[in-house]
Amino acid sequence: MTATRIDGKSFAEHLRTQVAEGVLQLRASLGVKPGLAVVLVGADPASEIYVKNKHKSTLEVGMESFEHRLPADTSEDTLLALVDKLNGDDAVNGILVQLPLPKHIDETKVINRISPEKDVDGFHILNSGKLATGQTDGMVPCTPLGCLLLLKEYAGGLAGKNAVVLGRSNIVGKPMAALLLGESCTVTIAHSKTKDLPALCRTADILVAAVGRPEMVKKDWVKEGAVVIDVGINRLPPEREGQKGRVVGDVAFDEVAEVASAITPVPGGVGPMTIAVLLYNTLKATCQKHNVPFTL
Ligand code: GUN
Repeated sequence: MTATRIDGKSFAEHLRTQVAEGVLQLRASLGVKPGLAVVLVGADPASEIYVKNKHKSTLEVGMESFEHRLPADTSEDTLLALVDKLNGDDAVNGILVQLPLPKHIDETKVINRISPEKDVDGFHILNSGKLATGQTDGMVPCTPLGCLLLLKEYAGGLAGKNAVVLGRSNIVGKPMAALLLGESCTVTIAHSKTKDLPALCRTADILVAAVGRPEMVKKDWVKEGAVVIDVGINRLPPEREGQKGRVVGDVAFDEVAEVASAITPVPGGVGPMTIAVLLYNTLKATCQKHNVPFTL
């Protein structure tokens, strides 16, 4: 079997177009322009790129973008004070504090300081609680929601399928498992202590890899016809000096594509979906604030 290549890039473009239309409608009906604030502490190169891309995409869908760049030695109190200010700012509908934060700052404390209604990352304890208990009015983390949208498009009906999620992070693994459970999949979360990972993965109709290990998932880990979603973004060491290494996912794409029915590439799969869903969440937060139905 040669798998269908899941085109996250064009799916994300389509979603961003829908968000842009929603923004236009809000502006026309209420004169409201959704605003997204992104906070970056320090100068982690990968985070810098994400933040730059978020800024550009936010403007492209007609939203207001507020960027706050703070030095790496910013105190926790200073960051919390900025979050408080953004919580109280009517022009700001969504707040994202880029992770990871420097070691001296308590990430959980900062995340839980963001107003749950503005928590477009869906990391606040209230939003994770809503997701865990099936309350649909909360904010859902962007990457797993993006994966779910792709799965709904490419995996047919999800109910009753065996889903294996590799990785148990709060950002991807746990919310991904909750979303799949909400779709009535039979869900297993696997992690570094799981016994016989290849055998477990072979039980999966749906396999989501989010472990951050380059090309870990091989062909013989994957059941014939499975749908494979690769969340990993790993840069390999350069083959020649002075060059950049190749970016690969957590799945050995070429060989797994021989057995899967559909698979996301890296880059161009899950990555573009994350920012599109962030904008979707920002529109949702704005609609909820103004008691306008959110229909995307
Ligand atoms: N760092 C890596 N992924 C994310 C994300 O989805 N949100 C935030 N805030 N930081 C991240």
